[in-house]
Amino acid sequence: MKINTRRSAFLVISEIENKKNPNADTLMEKYHRTLKDPKDRKLFVEIVHGVLKFKNLLDYYINFVATKGVKDKRILNVLRIATYELMFLDRIPEYATVDEACSLVESINKHQKGFVNAVLRNIIRKKDEIEKALERVKETNLKDFLSIKLSYPKFLIEYLEQSYGLEKTIKILEFLNTKPLQSIKINTKKIDREDFLKKLELNGYKYTLAEENSEIVYILSGNIKDSDLYREGYFYFQDLASSLVVKWNKEDFESAGAILDLCAAPGGKTFNCAEITKGFIISCDVNKSKVDLLRNNLVRLGFDNVVPAQSDATILNEDFIDKFDIVIADLPCAGFGTIRKKPDIKWNKTLEDIESLHELQLRILDNAAKYVKDGGIIFYSTCTLGHKENEDTAKDFVKRHKEFSIVYQKTIFPDEYQCDGFFIAKLRKEGKEEA
Ligand SMILES: C[S@@+](CC[C@H](N)C(=O)[O-])C[C@H]1O[C@@H](n2cnc3c(N)ncnc32)[C@H](O)[C@@H]1O
Repeated sequence: MKINTRRSAFLVISEIENKKNPNADTLMEKYHRTLKDPKDRKLFVEIVHGVLKFKNLLDYYINFVATKGVKDKRILNVLRIATYELMFLDRIPEYATVDEACSLVESINKHQKGFVNAVLRNIIRKKDEIEKALERVKETNLKDFLSIKLSYPKFLIEYLEQSYGLEKTIKILEFLNTKPLQSIKINTKKIDREDFLKKLELNGYKYTLAEENSEIVYILSGNIKDSDLYREGYFYFQDLASSLVVKWNKEDFESAGAILDLCAAPGGKTFNCAEITKGFIISCDVNKSKVDLLRNNLVRLGFDNVVPAQSDATILNEDFIDKFDIVIADLPCAGFGTIRKKPDIKWNKTLEDIESLHELQLRILDNAAKYVKDGGIIFYSTCTLGHKENEDTAKDFVKRHKEFSIVYQKTIFPDEYQCDGFFIAKLRKEGKEEA
């Protein structure tokens, strides 16, 4: 049974490494489903996320003992999995980790079994020596040290440092390495908050509430997706940060007659609006299967004031011009704020990606500007950190569209709110641009 868990983790990690921007969530889900025992599932997620989160640190340990490096990526990934277990998982005895790694490597290349065994035994033996060597890196080059110890590409550390300073960047990066709690939003259109919390207790779920939004509940134990509470539509999955766009601007959304959500899937902000608005919402996404999923969730949650549609936000839709009180532009971004849940993001984004996402955001906002009525609002948001995609996009947008002004903009720092990193800008259309 255990070999299946590690083999699944090995296959997912290898596939993520081999492709640029693979859909890691879909991959994880595919292999997750093949594991029947909840304990195996938990270990599988722990290993995949752990290896992706701490890849640089694991490689430092491995390369310290395998001084010529490990050229075969498959063998390297077996070693990373085992080294992660040795460093981070107290519950698994060291001998079991080494045995499992040897069995796994045997099925890949049996000639490498002795090598893997020797590397892992050396890591166990030389742990203190390796830690001391790493401390010496800290004394000579702090950024190199952080890039290894916290395991982030150096460009990302430097990029965030430019935006927030080094001290804040370290706090952010440390927090993004922690494990997220399962976060859900109560569907207040179907059930009262107190009644829902009682039902949670009756069903044996332990929970805590988010400070900034008491309708966001952190589930501490159990798989709530398999519950009747989910099937009844009493909640949907959403991070605290994502819920704050509507929560912090409730009056705007309550009074809006027509709302357009340009990049809506999986639907979090649309659902937040649908709970409170007296008007209607058109929810678009470019991805057809995501729109189908959104549609299914609308039925499950019982919202009848939302029209889902497949639509590309970069293409101007003449029918939308001047029609909306609010446009939600929760745009494609690098996603650095979500690294706790999607650690592969650490390794598959570049500075060029950030630049081109900034440009894409401006293109979509150019269209959004036309869809909003005079006096209306665009809520521009991302789940990323760093000025280029956030403050700079908002700044460049109002430079291009003099009829808009920035009412406020705010970065939700993950280490402060204990949630994803996020950015919100409220942009009001004051009147027609002068010719
Ligand atoms: C950050 S997610 C949106 C999250 C969503 N607003 C929520 O609260 O659940 C970005 C979404 O943008 C969609 N997307 C990417 N490019 C797009 C485009 N050109 N037009 C419309 N949607 C797009 C993606 O499919 C993805 O679902």
